[in-house]
Amino acid sequence: MKPATLFTLMASGALAAATPAIPGYSARARGTTTPQQHVPLRLLHTFTPISTVTGKGNSRLFASSSSSKESTKGGAVLALPNNNLSTAQATIRIPAAKMPTAGPTANNTVGEYAASFWVGIDSATDACADSGAGSLRAGVDIFWDGTLGGQQRPFAWYQGPGQAGEVGFDEGFSVAEGDVVRFTLEAGAAGPDGKEVEAVAVVAENFGRNVSRVIRKNAVPVKRVRQVLPAEAGGKRLCRGEAAWMVEDFPLQGRPEFPTALVNFTSVTFNAGVVLDDGKEMDLTDAEVLDIRLEAQGGRLTSCEVVGGAKVRCARVVRDD
Ligand SMILES: *[C@@H]1O[C@H](CO)[C@@H](O)[C@H](O)[C@H]1NC(C)=O
Ligand SMILES: *[C@@H]1O[C@H](CO)[C@@H](O)[C@H](O)[C@H]1NC(C)=O
Ligand SMILES: *[C@@H]1O[C@H](CO)[C@@H](O)[C@H](O)[C@H]1NC(C)=O
Ligand SMILES: *[C@@H]1O[C@H](CO)[C@@H](O)[C@H](O)[C@H]1NC(C)=O
Repeated sequence: MKPATLFTLMASGALAAATPAIPGYSARARGTTTPQQHVPLRLLHTFTPISTVTGKGNSRLFASSSSSKESTKGGAVLALPNNNLSTAQATIRIPAAKMPTAGPTANNTVGEYAASFWVGIDSATDACADSGAGSLRAGVDIFWDGTLGGQQRPFAWYQGPGQAGEVGFDEGFSVAEGDVVRFTLEAGAAGPDGKEVEAVAVVAENFGRNVSRVIRKNAVPVKRVRQVLPAEAGGKRLCRGEAAWMVEDFPLQGRPEFPTALVNFTSVTFNAGVVLDDGKEMDLTDAEVLDIRLEAQGGRLTSCEVVGGAKVRCARVVRDD
């Protein structure tokens, strides 16, 4: 079933007052703020774990087993029931942000659209919730803002165990549409006693736009930052039981009630990498795939798949199923 009323296109003023918009899908009231003073759009990187059902030593995701269930996440989740994940990696080319032309959020020329692409450890499901696990993730957000002429500068960020908010890589690590970026999450290998965990760190590398998406392991990036984080913060540490590559429809900061209208990113491909404690790599053959499903925005908004055991590809769609 589709919502009968679509959001309006009114930014502000009398017409907007006369035509109530569905919150979250209309332009923000900006008062007298001039474009020069405009604060860039930012997403609220909330942690909303997908429920898992555990059995036979393997976990199954709720969101993917029920097509009627709403989900702000699309992509793939790989469960590591032995909690032996050491690093998770994603390489993506930052997609262009466009206004969607299909579905109930289409063609809002004064609207705001966004999408987030991230790689995470213990960040997608509640599989580790019992142990009070924290989560580690890093990614990039893209924006389209009709009141500011369309596509905006992407924003790269990371979030460590116990951190409520994200931290921008801003300084020294700017990114642009078309850049190939690689994020590596280091969750540490367990020591001989199986308890001591090395530093938790995030490495972000930008290879620029003139490279193929497949990056040699030892390729030299244009920019590289490595951020070491406390292995434990706010009583939370990683349980290293799951890696995920996700497209997520987060709310905008200041408007936590609704996921933002999902931008048209056409498609994104994560080149994924997983390394276990023993140094062995693992492929994504056993990963579970899920799609963003938001009825208010037209139903299923992504079409995600694991390709060749090493890539997660998600296309932006609007589907009824
Ligand atoms: C890590 O766990 C996987 C299953 O998730 C298992 O196949 C692998 O052998 C384990 N490796 C080590 C070093 O424990
Ligand atoms: C997104 O843009 C592509 C072209 O880049 C177009 O083919 C596709 O229909 C658009 N999707 C939506 C949902 O607007
Ligand atoms: C949005 O605009 C495009 C281009 O004018 C048009 O092809 C498309 O049908 C429109 N979509 C909707 C849902 O009105
Ligand atoms: C990337 O390629 C374009 C077109 O070939 C060229 O103009 C540009 O200088 C290149 N940029 C870098 C950073 O190499």
